[in-house]
Amino acid sequence: MTKIYGHRGSKGNYPENTLVSFQAAIEEGVDGLELDVHMTEDGEVVVIHDETLDRTTDGRGLIKDLTLAEIKQYSAGSKFSHLTRYGKSWDNEKVPSLIEVLQLLAGTEIELNIELKTYVYTYPGIEEKLLSIINEFGENRKIIYSSFHLPSLIRLKELDNSANIAWLLHNPISNPSDYMQVFDLESLHLAKDLVLHDMFQPYQELSPSVRVWTVNDEQELKRMLDLGVDAIITDYPEKAINLRVKN
Ligand code: G3P
Ligand code: CA
Repeated sequence: MTKIYGHRGSKGNYPENTLVSFQAAIEEGVDGLELDVHMTEDGEVVVIHDETLDRTTDGRGLIKDLTLAEIKQYSAGSKFSHLTRYGKSWDNEKVPSLIEVLQLLAGTEIELNIELKTYVYTYPGIEEKLLSIINEFGENRKIIYSSFHLPSLIRLKELDNSANIAWLLHNPISNPSDYMQVFDLESLHLAKDLVLHDMFQPYQELSPSVRVWTVNDEQELKRMLDLGVDAIITDYPEKAINLRVKN
């Protein structure tokens, strides 16, 4: 059965990459969560999409130049007051550390896709830090490390041969199964346009090892369910789960 992963939690209705968004996705019944990580000036791993605080918080500045304590001064929810489920309590949401998300997931079997945002800044040491956090707080959870930046994935594999690594692709590649084999990829995480518009053929035989992002439209969700991909990454996990029941 195709799994449903909540993209940045339940991003369509909640402030992305916050604990309130992850909690909502858990309550909606997701099989997995997707989130993005960067590293702070003091070497902590935080969950935020952009290199800076500017778009999603009321703070400013590069994550790499700020300490975790400095980042925690800002709200990660107040900029999302346009969402219909907004409540004043969101103003108290902070950028979570990865450890806090793992603590929220404790005791569940929810899979976790950690996307390393290492293509603008490489954050030296982030791969070691991630593995040490997962070693301490990961329980037996299935963790999938994804990145557009293949060197980060290769580094993870050098450090831990059992790590599940997934290459994120916007554009088609030839002979995808060769890449899977050479780099020992657990999966490919494909932009939905690679799967729609008849571009899926080279990936068809790999569909049990494919996760597709970011699929929100009802017809597109149905198409992915019919293709039998391993997982759909969506901003609207509740909608996708309801469609899966009917499909
Ligand atoms: O992991 C899939 C997807 O999240 C990649 O794009 O920009 O939403 O992080 P983005
Ligand atoms: Ca992402």
